[in-house]
Amino acid sequence: MRQLDLFAHVAAAFADASEDGLSTGALYDIVARSAGIDHSAATARVPIGTAKALHSPFKRAVRWHQQTLKTLGVVERVADRTGFWRLTQPVTKDLDRAADGVKLVAFSTMLGMAIWARNEDVFRGLAEPIALCVTSPPYPLRQARAYGNPTDNQYVDFICGALEPIVANLVTGGSIVLNISNDIFQHRSPARSLYMERLVLALHDRLGLALMDRIPWVNYSKPPGPTRWACVDRVHLATAYEPLLWLTNDPGRVRADNRRVLQAHTERHRRLLEAGGEQRSASYGDGAYRIRPQSFGNPTSGRLSRNVVERGHRCADTLAYRRAAATLGLPAQGAMQPTAIPDFFTRFLTEPGDLVVDPFGGTIRTGLAAERLGRRWIVTEWILQYARGAAELFRQSDGFLMHPALQWASQGR
Ligand SMILES: C[S@@+](CC[C@H](N)C(=O)[O-])C[C@H]1O[C@@H](n2cnc3c(N)ncnc32)[C@H](O)[C@@H]1O
Repeated sequence: MRQLDLFAHVAAAFADASEDGLSTGALYDIVARSAGIDHSAATARVPIGTAKALHSPFKRAVRWHQQTLKTLGVVERVADRTGFWRLTQPVTKDLDRAADGVKLVAFSTMLGMAIWARNEDVFRGLAEPIALCVTSPPYPLRQARAYGNPTDNQYVDFICGALEPIVANLVTGGSIVLNISNDIFQHRSPARSLYMERLVLALHDRLGLALMDRIPWVNYSKPPGPTRWACVDRVHLATAYEPLLWLTNDPGRVRADNRRVLQAHTERHRRLLEAGGEQRSASYGDGAYRIRPQSFGNPTSGRLSRNVVERGHRCADTLAYRRAAATLGLPAQGAMQPTAIPDFFTRFLTEPGDLVVDPFGGTIRTGLAAERLGRRWIVTEWILQYARGAAELFRQSDGFLMHPALQWASQGR
């Protein structure tokens, strides 16, 4: 059955209906006619499911789309565009943003779902215990990106508003990890904005979160910048990191375990172990650290991770996403993280089966990391085209399903 085509016909049938609405019987007729499906194909019944009961695949598909539209709760027509449902708010020629109240499961797997919606519309109604939120919100940029950015002054309210419903469902000792920018400057000044300090204080004072760490994501593949202050006026060093703020609602019971993110031992350490540990005696830091014969001789499963994440932008998933977006004719997301970032925090701060969320999904990397690590996940993204491109990264996942409405993303207007 032409599932992909039918959604648009069902939506159009409702949009064209009189104010009295449309009966399901009339809906079948209208959709069959507009989709060019003849009567016998529309009414043909085949055995479906384990009970092998006879059903019409056409009618089932129409009802499914009808139900989706009802669930979306979007019955409003766009005043000046006959035949269009108010599902999206065009942002640019190529980007569709979910209108207020629209919630559509863009795609899902056995473990999680990416929802095309404003995050507030999803997380406010969610009553599921959340173990971790890893997110990279829009930065407070003076020159906004295509998907929209709050200003420096709006930022604290913006982030607290997005996180509040998530924090309300955070399990005891659950964590929030925020990838924000250190490179926000005061107007026409090389002085950095203090928005990050204000944000940390507000997250503590308003949402009761405790700061566990500020972990620098050191990335030497960042382009040289800040352009004005490092490359033109030469008063700043070129930036190479972004802060990852790690917060929790209960530091005493935080669900972190550094044994889940052990690194491989260095070659030097391996040789030391083989030699049975140190062979010398020494004392450092006025006696605070002592080395004795056999120190570091006990085999351990790995090296403790340092609180610095060193990672370039290059990532196989980013390349795969870009290729898919180009093939589908979609605009590419311009602020992606390598999957290694959410992967690290998901391993460190959760266990298999836990729920991981991201209210600012982009290419759904938090979902991708969770999926690969056997965690459940819910991610929201309000730009249809980004969700559509990201779906291609999940095609091999167990139970992958993509909503037919996502075809709109690559149709252009
Ligand atoms: C910095 S990007 C996230 C990038 C992502 N971590 C990745 O690696 O692809 C922020 C994303 O948040 C989305 N966004 C902004 N406000 C939103 C909202 N209220 N609800 C849902 N998504 C939103 C933007 O469209 C954008 O794709």
